[in-house]
Amino acid sequence: MDGTAPQKQAEAAPRGGLGPRGRGLFGRLLQGLRSAPAPRTEGVSIAIGSGKGGTGKSFLATSLAVLLHRAGVRTALVDCDFGLACDHLLLGVKPALTLQQLLAGQATLDQVLCTSPCGPTLLPGASGVRRLANMGDKDLLGLARELGAMAAREQALLLDLGAGISPATILTMLAADWVVLVTQPEIAALVDAYAVVKCVAQLDERAKFLVVVNRVAVPGRGELAFQKLTEVARQHVGVRLHYLGEIADDDSVSQQRLGQLPLVATDPGAPVARSLEQLARRLAELCGGLRQRELPAEQGLEARFKQHRLFL
Ligand SMILES: Nc1ncnc2c1ncn2[C@@H]1O[C@H](COP(=O)(O)OP(=O)(O)OP(=O)(O)O)[C@@H](O)[C@H]1O
Ligand SMILES: [Mg+2]
Repeated sequence: MDGTAPQKQAEAAPRGGLGPRGRGLFGRLLQGLRSAPAPRTEGVSIAIGSGKGGTGKSFLATSLAVLLHRAGVRTALVDCDFGLACDHLLLGVKPALTLQQLLAGQATLDQVLCTSPCGPTLLPGASGVRRLANMGDKDLLGLARELGAMAAREQALLLDLGAGISPATILTMLAADWVVLVTQPEIAALVDAYAVVKCVAQLDERAKFLVVVNRVAVPGRGELAFQKLTEVARQHVGVRLHYLGEIADDDSVSQQRLGQLPLVATDPGAPVARSLEQLARRLAELCGGLRQRELPAEQGLEARFKQHRLFL
């Protein structure tokens, strides 16, 4: 054995220290810890939920997607009614691929996204798929990644949720910048809307809620219903809700056939279409403008989804 070898070894790796390779690795690790992760540039994400089924979430989400697109906002709609999707039917799209293939790794985001005839981009959901209705951890992480990727492309990202308070639904609300609650003047719908506020606010007291009262029979009743809801939310969970507006109960909506284009596109002068236009304008105002903005990495949509996932 060479007598100088131990000396060389000692130079390369001082006692108790790291060799050059170790120091390089250690240095890179330290540098990684010191430098904060890069900020994210994302559009505004808006989850549309209700608690109770059939309150008009999909009708509102598809109408807003068309109106925002027409107002020059780069907008995408994600059908987050996991396993019971229908937004493609309301937007006149026949998708070949859906969220199902995307989460299964059988298609890329670009392959699954569709441009609907009225303009906004749609990430179609799947219907009758039990795996999506009851997503496991792998699917939830995949969903977080894809939603984050979409938020990075768009100025407004609308997330049309299903009824109920499944973990995936609550997580999507927690991850979004805003939650639009669609309710109706009936007590059952208001009680369920309150239940959603309670669930979400208990997990994140900074969650921001906007309320739409749909299917209002007498003008002005929407605001009265909102006042009851906001008072209960303030008293019991200390949350302030913001009123977005009301939509009349109108036969022209219920008579729309699946596969037809949304009313805001086919009959923009109809009273319901006009109220929806006002809602879209007010939504943009209340959100402080629908555009891309820079966020600290941990406040991006994907990061928020993953953080909240740990507590559900
Ligand atoms: N303002 C309205 N006037 C009349 N009918 C309406 C109105 N809004 C929604 N509807 C009708 O109510 C039904 C339910 O609407 P929609 O599918 O949008 O509800 P949803 O909340 O998305 O339901 P789900 O919880 O099943 O996802 C549809 O038939 C729709 O046409
Ligand atoms: Mg729906």
